[in-house]
Amino acid sequence: MHNQSSIEELTCLDKLRIQVGWTYRGEKYKGEAKRNRSHVEVHFLSSWSLSNFLLVMQLVIRRYHHSDKDAVLTLFGSCAWEFVHPCFHNAMTSPLYVTITLALCVAGYLLGSVLGAVTLQGIWVGLVYYCCYEAFISFTRERLRTDMQDIPGNYLSRPDDCFWVAEAEVDGRAQIMGIVAVVAQQSETERYGTLLRMVVSPLCRRMGVGFRLAQTVIDFSKERGFSKVMLETTSPQIAAVALYKKLGFRHVLSYSPFGVFKLARVIIFRMEKHL
Ligand SMILES: CC(C)(COP(=O)(O)OP(=O)(O)OC[C@H]1O[C@@H](n2cnc3c(N)ncnc32)[C@H](O)[C@@H]1OP(=O)(O)O)[C@@H](O)C(=O)NCCC(=O)NCCS
Repeated sequence: MHNQSSIEELTCLDKLRIQVGWTYRGEKYKGEAKRNRSHVEVHFLSSWSLSNFLLVMQLVIRRYHHSDKDAVLTLFGSCAWEFVHPCFHNAMTSPLYVTITLALCVAGYLLGSVLGAVTLQGIWVGLVYYCCYEAFISFTRERLRTDMQDIPGNYLSRPDDCFWVAEAEVDGRAQIMGIVAVVAQQSETERYGTLLRMVVSPLCRRMGVGFRLAQTVIDFSKERGFSKVMLETTSPQIAAVALYKKLGFRHVLSYSPFGVFKLARVIIFRMEKHL
């Protein structure tokens, strides 16, 4: 439910005008919200208490079209960076890594000098940062180079797969605000869907777009008779984990593959929701 807090979320947006719909005492209204320097104007609402309203951004969730390709690739490509720094911060502030950093500092000093201490510490910190970078940026680059290059071929050519975009009208122009895909999988005992490529633009987070995209996947999977929806996400993706939990997904497996993921202290969570 998006009530007054949704309006406060809008104050984060710069130069964004959004068509809104709301209900007041059971009646439906339409209007426009826009950010105006320091506050949000919601037309027709100024003298009424905002807490009485249920605000919903006008949003369309539809199948991917060829013409969406550039916007979809830009949105997908831009989200990886937001996890590199939190991942690095999380790793370097863990008790184990603080100990290793201090130990290397002392060892470098004893073996050489202050320069030795700085060099050893620098190599270690650089290695951890590289692993955080690789864990997120390499994965995204690889996807952009492979399956995302041919979305119709990889996600729309079989009837039980799909790729959706969330489109909203911003300043009179339709813009892609989110994406998600589902791919049908067959195990020995069941047929299920895997949710992939979920991203919502930072411009409209916490406004229910991710929830609606994930719900679209769940509804589609139910229609197709899948037994469950499965997905994988990672420990720095805190918003995603919270979203999936809210939708009733449960952890079924946590692992950290050897290599960059292990060194970056990234845990992969497998989650699933039975339908
Ligand atoms: C994860 C993501 C898709 C969520 O999209 P969103 O549109 O902001 O999510 P919603 O507004 O629908 O939020 C639904 C619920 O998820 C949870 N949630 C979403 N963002 C959250 C955050 N930053 N912190 C805590 N919980 C959060 C809340 O329970 C929220 O319900 P509430 O607003 O009523 O409290 C978005 O943050 C995103 O694109 N992140 C980067 C890419 C990513 O991590 N993708 C997942 C790949 S597996």
